[in-house]
Amino acid sequence: MTNKKSHYDAMFSGVIGQDYEMLKLISPLAAEMSRLVGAKVAEYPELNTDKLNIVELGSGTGITTLSILTAREASSVFSIDNEPTMQDQAKKHLKRWMDDGRLTFCGDDALTALKNLENGSVDIVASAYTLHNFLNTYRQEVIEEIFRVLKPGGQFINGDRYGLDDISMHTRIVQQEVNDYFRILTEANKLELLENWIVHLFSDESENHIMRESVALNQLQEAGFVQINLSHRMAANALVTAVKSA
Ligand SMILES: C[S@@+](CC[C@H](N)C(=O)[O-])C[C@H]1O[C@@H](n2cnc3c(N)ncnc32)[C@H](O)[C@@H]1O
Repeated sequence: MTNKKSHYDAMFSGVIGQDYEMLKLISPLAAEMSRLVGAKVAEYPELNTDKLNIVELGSGTGITTLSILTAREASSVFSIDNEPTMQDQAKKHLKRWMDDGRLTFCGDDALTALKNLENGSVDIVASAYTLHNFLNTYRQEVIEEIFRVLKPGGQFINGDRYGLDDISMHTRIVQQEVNDYFRILTEANKLELLENWIVHLFSDESENHIMRESVALNQLQEAGFVQINLSHRMAANALVTAVKSA
């Protein structure tokens, strides 16, 4: 592990605590994806001196939120999550950024929250592991709203589960995930968590939820995005970026 990465891990363990350690244990790729979302935010061009206006979909326990906040000092983050038990953890972990006025939370669902935002008012919509939970029809509407609220030149950055187009390969990857969950969580004696992850995986893999790579990229194109790019593929996970043309 590089110094940079171990510093990042130490900082995250300090702020997020047990929840970060648990995510790293069960799904190290998910923890890494939040780091990559932050790295993409850091790369966003500095066009002027204004603070970047960033919307995050799915606060969760605050792992991705923290990555975004620390990636770009001159930014304010509006973080949306409609599950109070999840968002309350993010609020607890990230209180100092709320107190500094850089972070606000919204408890609406993603589509409702986006619909309440002005046209062309947001520099970046960033997210990790939230869109794959959506029903396909709902996700379609969310993507259209993301495009509407972004400023020209604004970016959509999403680290998430993107199903492989090669379905046989995808199945093998999911089987490996199941093997890993059983091995790690039985060793840690976390059987209830194991049950929850397996049950959730059935939802992730269902026909009306799965975010298959080529379908997802086409959906972005149809919404009007350009420079659509899928990178950092790690098993069923990948980083997708797209730009609203200037
Ligand atoms: C798996 S967590 C990801 C959290 C964090 N980004 C991470 O990577 O650890 C997904 C979050 O999205 C939220 N979520 C799911 N569907 C949502 C919706 N329709 N609107 C807003 N939030 C939603 C869930 O409550 C959950 O907190």
